[in-house]
Amino acid sequence: MSGNVENLYCQRTSPSWTSRLARALRPPDPLLRNPRELEIDAPLGRWNLYIGGAGSVVDGYVSIDLVPLAGVNVAGSAEQLPFRSNLFQRVECDAVLEHVEHPECVMAEITRVLAPGGFAHVVVPFCHPFHEYPRDFRRFTPDGLRQYSNGLQVIAEGWRTGPTATLLVFVLEYVKVWLPWRPLRAVAHGALGWLLFPFRYLDLILFRSARARQIGNHCYIWLRKPAS
Ligand SMILES: C[S@@+](CC[C@H](N)C(=O)[O-])C[C@H]1O[C@@H](n2cnc3c(N)ncnc32)[C@H](O)[C@@H]1O
Repeated sequence: MSGNVENLYCQRTSPSWTSRLARALRPPDPLLRNPRELEIDAPLGRWNLYIGGAGSVVDGYVSIDLVPLAGVNVAGSAEQLPFRSNLFQRVECDAVLEHVEHPECVMAEITRVLAPGGFAHVVVPFCHPFHEYPRDFRRFTPDGLRQYSNGLQVIAEGWRTGPTATLLVFVLEYVKVWLPWRPLRAVAHGALGWLLFPFRYLDLILFRSARARQIGNHCYIWLRKPAS
């Protein structure tokens, strides 16, 4: 079941020549991140937690993931964080809630381990293809995500990736639905990815539109635990 997570990790780090070639030929992401997402003054503290990083090492963070890949500091579930309460100044939870059975437990755990005055940054998909890491249970609207805020203050919210990202990722997936062989899907993904990625810059305009929410790709929320 954890195969997809391990594949994701291998694609990023494997030293084999086929993986290096795949990385070299890999088209740029069809997604462009909203620059406003990170315009938040939320400094790291002594202890910061990265949930579900799939083995990527992020400076300044302790990482926890269900799958014990290299780079993961603690293997375990975000539904039951093995840390004391009020410890972390920053918690990152990026594209994880759709993969857990009980997102409300994860959000309760984030609330518990956040230090008073600490910040949580949570990102979830709204319109995005099915992807099992290692399972895929649900999608979220911004209203739905806000419902999990558990008494934390909502500092900011918006779209991490916009309508053009949605369109491009679905076109890529649609074409691959027609192709029965994995190598063919990889070639199609590469060729179409290079052809389509420049359109991602349209999201820089669409992020400003209220209508982006009709088919936005991933949304984010910044939450703060009251200082006392
Ligand atoms: C879609 S990947 C996101 C990876 C990374 N945040 C990124 O954006 O590249 C989801 C990650 O969440 C992890 N995950 C899934 N269920 C989890 C759980 N219950 N507790 C902790 N991590 C979990 C998976 O192992 C995977 O690494």
